[in-house]
Amino acid sequence: MTAYKDLSKNELKALKKELTKKFEDVKAKGLKLDMSRGKPSTEQLNLSMGMMDVLTSSSDLVCEEGVDCRNYGVLDGIKEAKQLLADMMEVPKDNIVIFGNSSLNVMYDTVARSMIHGVMGSTPWCKLDKVKFLCPVPGYDRHFAITEHFGIEMINIPMTPTGPDMDMVEELVSTDPAVKGIWCVPKYSNPQGITYSDETVHRFAKLNPAAEDFRIYWDNAYGIHHLYEDKQDYLIEILMECKKEGHPDMVYKFSSTSKISFPGSGIAAIAASDANLKEIREQMKIQTIGHDKLNQLRHARFFKDIHGMVKHMKKHADIMRPKFDTVLASLEKELGGLEIGSWLAPRGGYFISFDSMDGCAKAIVAKAKEAGLVMTNAGATYPYGKDPHDSNIRIAPSYPTLDEIKLAMEVFTLSVKLVSIDKLLAKAE
Ligand SMILES: Cc1ncc(COP(=O)(O)O)c(C=O)c1O
Repeated sequence: MTAYKDLSKNELKALKKELTKKFEDVKAKGLKLDMSRGKPSTEQLNLSMGMMDVLTSSSDLVCEEGVDCRNYGVLDGIKEAKQLLADMMEVPKDNIVIFGNSSLNVMYDTVARSMIHGVMGSTPWCKLDKVKFLCPVPGYDRHFAITEHFGIEMINIPMTPTGPDMDMVEELVSTDPAVKGIWCVPKYSNPQGITYSDETVHRFAKLNPAAEDFRIYWDNAYGIHHLYEDKQDYLIEILMECKKEGHPDMVYKFSSTSKISFPGSGIAAIAASDANLKEIREQMKIQTIGHDKLNQLRHARFFKDIHGMVKHMKKHADIMRPKFDTVLASLEKELGGLEIGSWLAPRGGYFISFDSMDGCAKAIVAKAKEAGLVMTNAGATYPYGKDPHDSNIRIAPSYPTLDEIKLAMEVFTLSVKLVSIDKLLAKAE
């Protein structure tokens, strides 16, 4: 395989002609494909249908506290749901609060509370001239949307294969009191599928923030979302690690069962120190009389315990694995050795991240759209939608069928090749 950069202008032109013909043929098929959002497929949703049957009109709906789940009562989660999610999040049961159906909602509320009321007695962020968040990039667009919504300045931190660039994180966190938080997806990250190394987690726990109200926003959305039985990433548990280092309050952990049971109808939780949770409960009791306990009960009875959940996740993996393998095989076969793009092979999560040559991502996504393939907008993986290199594209293989993915990858790889050729030809002019 000759790298495109080593081809002559005439060779590139000839190749462009041949690939354009292929592209037009695919385009003529009038495809309608979508690899834009990380949604579970119908087949995956069907795995949890048993949950619809665990509670019936004749079920005993009293939870372990002795409270009738149909009624008011129990503010921060029923015991059985706390145990299940505590085991899932690898924290003690007393360090967890169960919320509603969305962890993103919990993250939004956490930032909103800090803006309006401050964090454990410190000045509310809305009264400060400047509030900054560190944003490992590429990252999750909806995290960045929350901080942008509140007018918080976002600073890009490059991701490395072991997590965010920790030299930069340490420097900024320890010297700038305006830095109040960092968004982290520490395991099978969105979009790269990277898991933070032991050293990275240790360095996080050892941070010495200039701001007393600095918090690590540890969104472990993909903590048990492995793809393989034999190759699984391991992540050090940060809450305990921060406690050991004498910073018990420095981290908020978030998670949910969105991609375990039903997105939009799962249960979400925050895990944190006693002091942080005290403050969170204070606000919670003003916000709500309590979240949906019937849904909590449904989850607890369906999964039974963490072992039930882990078994369930293997069924998800059996559906997801061939899709990931198909995307990766196509990238390797079509683009390997051409030096017009790079990617990582994640061991879990929901995404594959592709980096094109600089200045090509937007054009690739637009080109793919011409042939009926919708990808996540280029730039979405960066704060303000601005990828400084215009190179990152997030591939979400979960929702389409295997056959659709094969077609989608044909469109995608052709689009990458054509846009890259144009870029190289323009450079040669
Ligand atoms: C990293 C990350 N966090 C949170 C979410 C959303 O979670 P929830 O459905 O619990 O709001 C997603 C969904 O894609 C995600 O990728």
